[in-house]
Amino acid sequence: MLNVALPKGRLGDQVYALFSKIGYECGAIYENDRRLVLESPENGVRYLLVKPSDVAIYVEYGAADVGVVGKDILLDGNPDVYELLDLGIGKCRLAVAGKNDYVEDREAVLRVATKFPNVTKKYYASLNREIEIIKLNGSIELAPILGLSDVIVDIVESGRTLKENNLKVLETIVPVSARLIANRANYQFKNDVITTIVEKLMEVLPQ
Ligand code: PRP
Repeated sequence: MLNVALPKGRLGDQVYALFSKIGYECGAIYENDRRLVLESPENGVRYLLVKPSDVAIYVEYGAADVGVVGKDILLDGNPDVYELLDLGIGKCRLAVAGKNDYVEDREAVLRVATKFPNVTKKYYASLNREIEIIKLNGSIELAPILGLSDVIVDIVESGRTLKENNLKVLETIVPVSARLIANRANYQFKNDVITTIVEKLMEVLPQ
C-alpha cells in the first residue's frame, strides 16, 4: 500500500485528479465526509488528507511515502525529503508587497510580516538589508494596512487579494509550483512503485 499525503483543499483536488488518471482512484474521496484516511486496497493506495503546510512533515517522518507540497513550503522549511517532480500545478510566486503608495525608507530597519521567515531572511540577507520579521500565520495582507509592518512577503496567485486591499507587488522573490516529494528511506523500499508513479505522472502533467 502506498501512503500519499494529499494537501486538503483546491491543490489536493488537482493532485487527486492527476493520481486518479494514472490508476490510483479511490472512490471514497468523493464521499465528502470527515474521514482523513481514505484507501483503495484494490488500487494499492491510501490517501492521508493533511493541512498543506504539514505535508512535508508527514513525508519526512515516513508517515506518508510520498506527498505533494508547494515549493514555498520546501524553501522555507527545508525538510529532509527527496523532491522528485515539479507537477506544474498550484503555480504562484513568493513576492514582496506593500501599500500602493509605499515608499521605502532605506535608513530604517524594514519590518516584514510573513508566514515564510526563512525565505524572507535569506532574501533580505542577499540584499544586505536589515529587517525585523513579524511572523504571522494568515491574512498577512492586513499587516501593512494596519501599520503592523512596512511590507509583506507572501504568496501571490491571481493578485486579487493584494488588489482588493490596495496593495501591490514590489518585488518577486521566486516562482512557486507544487512538487512531488518522497520519504528518503521509503523511496528505497518502494522504489519500483514510486519510480513508476513519477514516470506515469510525467505523461499526464499539464504542459
Ligand atoms: C494565500 C496568500 C494570499 C492569497 C493570494 O492565502 O497568503 O493571501 O492566497 O492569492 P491571490 O493572489 O489569488 O489573491 P490563503 O488563501 O492561503 O490564506 P491565508 O490568509 O491563510 O494565507
